[in-house]
Amino acid sequence: MAASSSPPHHVPTALTLLFILVSATTTNGSIGVNYGTVADDLPPPGEVARFLLQSTVINRVRIFDPNPELIQAFAHTGIQITVTVPNDQIPRLANLSFAQQWIKSYIQPYFPATNLVRILVGNEVLSTGNRLLIGTLVPAMQTLHAALAGASLDRRIQISTPHSLGILSASTPPSAGKFHGGYDVHILKPLLGFLRSTNSPFMINPYPFFGCSEETLDYALFRPNLGFLDPNTRIRYTNMLDAQLDAVFSAMKSLGFGDLEIVIAETGWPSKGEPSQIGAGQENAAQYNRNLMRHVNSGDGTPLMPNRTFETYIFSLFNEDLKPGPTCERNFGLFGPDLTPAYDVGILRPTVSTAARSSGPTATPSPAEPDGGGERKGAGKWCVAKEGADVDSLQRNIDYVCGALVGLGPGCGPIQEGGECFFPDTVRAHAAYAMNAFYQAMGRNDYDCDFRRTGAITAVDPSLLLLKLRFDSFCVYAFIFTCDDDGGRWCNFAGYGNCKYGH
Ligand SMILES: *[C@@H]1O[C@H](CO)[C@@H](O)[C@H](O)[C@H]1NC(C)=O
Ligand SMILES: *[C@@H]1O[C@H](CO)[C@@H](O)[C@H](O)[C@H]1NC(C)=O
Ligand SMILES: *[C@@H]1O[C@H](CO)[C@@H](O)[C@H](O)[C@H]1NC(C)=O
Repeated sequence: MAASSSPPHHVPTALTLLFILVSATTTNGSIGVNYGTVADDLPPPGEVARFLLQSTVINRVRIFDPNPELIQAFAHTGIQITVTVPNDQIPRLANLSFAQQWIKSYIQPYFPATNLVRILVGNEVLSTGNRLLIGTLVPAMQTLHAALAGASLDRRIQISTPHSLGILSASTPPSAGKFHGGYDVHILKPLLGFLRSTNSPFMINPYPFFGCSEETLDYALFRPNLGFLDPNTRIRYTNMLDAQLDAVFSAMKSLGFGDLEIVIAETGWPSKGEPSQIGAGQENAAQYNRNLMRHVNSGDGTPLMPNRTFETYIFSLFNEDLKPGPTCERNFGLFGPDLTPAYDVGILRPTVSTAARSSGPTATPSPAEPDGGGERKGAGKWCVAKEGADVDSLQRNIDYVCGALVGLGPGCGPIQEGGECFFPDTVRAHAAYAMNAFYQAMGRNDYDCDFRRTGAITAVDPSLLLLKLRFDSFCVYAFIFTCDDDGGRWCNFAGYGNCKYGH
């Protein structure tokens, strides 16, 4: 993270107090945004750069053209900047002298003051269907790279190009992901070869929002859900993004490029849409982006790409009022034009709360505690019902989990009549079993213990809880104990949870 200069001290204003309230500490300083500017009401780029640096954890920005004013605004911020060559310039960039001229005009004057790290040659070029653009894409990338090398910048600045998921002809199940025939061997294979030889990532724009229906909304939003089983791998996918990433991975792997890094160049969720549009809204947008950031930074990876993290760029920094198309297109922004958050997504710095427009950081510490979202998950965390959660909500959690766990380990058998955990026969005790079973089975993601805010994660040594809560929810802790002691029946179930990782 770049160092910031010491700013002037200001008395907190109502606005800064608001910022403190919405601050969170969910990320570990690795999140990017797309800074689109199809709007007539945005603040000046210098103000935007200062705001991102001082008030947010955003440390990467992608812009959609090589706009010198924007590039210059990020000078001396340390923020990593990606610029995009507009699609219509691609054919000309295959000409070396044009490419050299391009680097001389748009890159060299601003580097290294502005931390330019990547040039994207066009955007979703294969989806344009334009044969000239598609045919010159890889040559343009190669030529631009040669021009960078000529300026001794090829080791500092990468070249790539982002794709829509439309490049896949098959995406379900994820293990059967394939690129469109015709593009696969003739365009994508050389493209992937170029990326590998220049140590650059493959970039994609996955949007679960555009792929979801009423039935798959929870799946798209990383909320608890039944998931989808990939019959080839027997892997159960519990969020759509993982399935999309793994479909792309499978397609790359079938061409021999499973080793390349994948970058999420765009993804997001609109805070407003047409009434008929499933899922658009502030609450869902906040949830998607928050869960997204946790997930991509968690180091969990995806089922087919374990332990990877994904450099990710949220679309978009601002709502863009001049964008054509349906309402949602103008409402993907994290911030309004006055730099107020469109919703609380946890990217404001916890201790620095400022609107660049009116004040510098205050000395007020954040009341928020890290929730462990960015932390590596391990054994030693359990999901329990929150103190005071009402019985109806807990019953709903039980019903939900028992549906979701069908076929996974013993499911809810233990809390059904005759099961080991049937007693104590109270909703609270059964919920304690069910919620933790779900959390462990899904891989201990914080969001798997949310249960519409009735769940809480605890790291308290279960042996202490055993004494304390024996009559309330002992099965949760029996689960832990049996597991630790002799790896018995509970351990079979915990093949998905504690035992696998804890031993
Ligand atoms: C290549 O680019 C240079 C510089 O822009 C231009 O003068 C030249 O005509 C171009 N060559 C071709 C074949 O288009
Ligand atoms: C992923 O990380 C875990 C825990 O560190 C390790 O045991 C496992 O081997 C890793 N898997 C891969 C494929 O690297
Ligand atoms: C953030 O990253 C640093 C360095 O990788 C690590 O030491 C720290 O524990 C991380 N913090 C969180 C909250 O994940």
